[in-house]
Formats: sequence, C-alpha cells, structure tokens
Amino acid sequence: MLQEMMTVVNQKEIAPDIFEMTLSGELVKEMTKPGQFIHIRIPRSDLLMRRPISLAEIDHSNHTCKIIYRTDGEGTTVLSQLKQNDLLDVLGPLGNGFEIEMVAPGDVVYVIGGGIGIPPLYQLGKELFAKGATIYFLNGFASKEVVYYEEEFKKLGELFIATDDGSCSIKGHVGNLMEEIVLQTKTPKAVFACGPSGLLRSVEERFDNHPHVYLSMEERMACGIGACYACVCPSKKDPAKNKKVCDEGPIFKSGEVII
Ligand SMILES: Cc1cc2nc3c(=O)[nH]c(=O)nc-3n(C[C@H](O)[C@H](O)[C@H](O)COP(=O)(O)OP(=O)(O)OC[C@H]3O[C@@H](n4cnc5c(N)ncnc54)[C@H](O)[C@@H]3O)c2cc1C
Ligand code: FES
Repeated sequence: MLQEMMTVVNQKEIAPDIFEMTLSGELVKEMTKPGQFIHIRIPRSDLLMRRPISLAEIDHSNHTCKIIYRTDGEGTTVLSQLKQNDLLDVLGPLGNGFEIEMVAPGDVVYVIGGGIGIPPLYQLGKELFAKGATIYFLNGFASKEVVYYEEEFKKLGELFIATDDGSCSIKGHVGNLMEEIVLQTKTPKAVFACGPSGLLRSVEERFDNHPHVYLSMEERMACGIGACYACVCPSKKDPAKNKKVCDEGPIFKSGEVII
C-alpha cells in the first residue's frame, strides 16, 4: 500500500453524472487484483474523509489506472471538476480483490453488477477473458440513459442488460435477468457480483451452496485500512464477530458475512 499524489491523465463524463478518470503514478505497480479499490482524499480542505472508489481498469504498461464513479455527493462532485494534470492524493491499493485462480479456459462464469457496482467488474472481465473463460455479464442500470461501457463489456463476453424502467433491454432488476440466463446456460464455475445489498442477497440465494460465489460489498468507510471499525458487517458463522469490509473484504465468499 502506498500514498501518492497521482496525476489526472484524463477525465470524461461517459453518461449523465457518471465519470471516467484515468490516473497515473507509481502506485499502479502495486495494483495486482481486480476488485481492489483506492481511497481518495478529496482536494477540498473541509472534506476530511477519503472516498473509496474501485479500480475499473489497471494498465501496468502505461502506469495508469481508471476509475468510474457517479457524482453522488460533495466529494465525488469535487472529483468530477478535476482537469488533466491536476494532482490527487491517493492511498492504495486497498482490499483483497476477486479470486480467479480456479477459473480454467472454457469455464462458464457469471459476472453480475448493478449501477455503480459495475466498474470493478470491467478489470475482472479483462482478466477472466485473458484466462479464456466464457463470460456472461449481467449488468443492471436505472435506465438506458445511464448505461455505460456497453461496447467494452461486449468485447469480453456476452452482455445482458436489465433496466429498472425497461428503457433498454429487459425491464426489471438484475435478479430477474439472472433467473432467465441461468436457465439458458451451463452451471457456472464461478459467480462474481458487485452492487447494492439486494442484488448481492439475490445472487447468494440463487447460488446457495455453490463453492465459488464472490460478493463485493460497498460499506461506508473511514480509514480504509482496518483501524477504525467504521465498515464492519457481521460474520455469518458467528454473528457476534464482525468482519472489516475494508481490509478483510470488500470481497467475501458467499455465506461469509450477513449482507
Ligand atoms: C469498496 C468501495 C468501492 C466503491 N467503488 C465505487 C466506484 O467504483 N464508483 C462509485 O461511484 N462509487 C463507489 N463507491 C461508493 C463511493 O465511495 C461513494 O459514492 C462516495 O464515497 C460518495 O462520496 P460523496 O462525497 O460524493 O458523497 P457523500 O456526500 O459522502 O454521500 C452521498 C451518497 O453516497 C453514499 N455513500 C457515501 N459513502 C459511501 C460508501 N462508502 N459506500 C456506499 N455509499 C456511500 C451516501 O449514503 C449518500 O447516499 C465505493 C464504495 C466502496 C466502499
Ligand atoms: S474503514 Fe476503518 S476499519 Fe474499515
């Protein structure tokens, strides 16, 4: 883990209120697993808490990484105003990342994401594609307007989209979509998901007892490094015990924590 003033290489709005930012720095060398995140100090003195944002893409050859984020509140709005060559105080990479060692060429895998849980699944998809997996991406969005990275995901596997309002592809949430796709395909070797708790719960229920289901949690964080206990969630095996999402997660095996 490093703390570094990374350089903003590029920033663009890829859908309404959704931004893609490219950063460069030495810290990229430390980024080893899809699903890891960085903890960003917002360049405004009254916003003291860092904001956790997942790595959407890691490019070791160019020493760059990409993040994709939605302007939800003050911090991400300030972030969206940064321009090329601005500096950003970044701590990372943090978190355990997705396990993909068990995936072999030709294996069917499901990669399931909702809204702003989708960004880390792009780097994951690239690594699964490099392993020769057959990937079914199931992405859920609020509406057609906020769909992003459609072409990028299609290059890696089959992409299925659900929108809450039915303005693009299948109407409904990604849980409905999952039920349809499960009926059409072989049992997956592994299932990876990131998104709101409702989505993670439906994935966990649908693949009950499956040995390779990995769920990425998004809890509110403070320190991001396991010191403050702001991000805990109860362990499923022993609810009296807590797991820290920032350093024991954010990815947990299905059945490990209460979502
Ligand atoms: C491991 C991890 C990875 C994340 N990756 C991404 C990502 O790739 N792209 C992205 O857009 N967002 C991501 N988030 C959520 C992101 O951290 C919050 O949207 C951001 O901190 C909001 O900051 P803000 O100052 O703009 O908003 P605030 O004013 O702090 O809050 C605005 C809204 O964001 C919610 N929020 C604040 N912090 C979090 C949080 N940690 N998790 C969930 N919701 C939060 C609040 O409940 C509120 O509704 C991630 C969160 C975690 C924990
Ligand atoms: S945010 Fe401090 S322990 Fe996780």
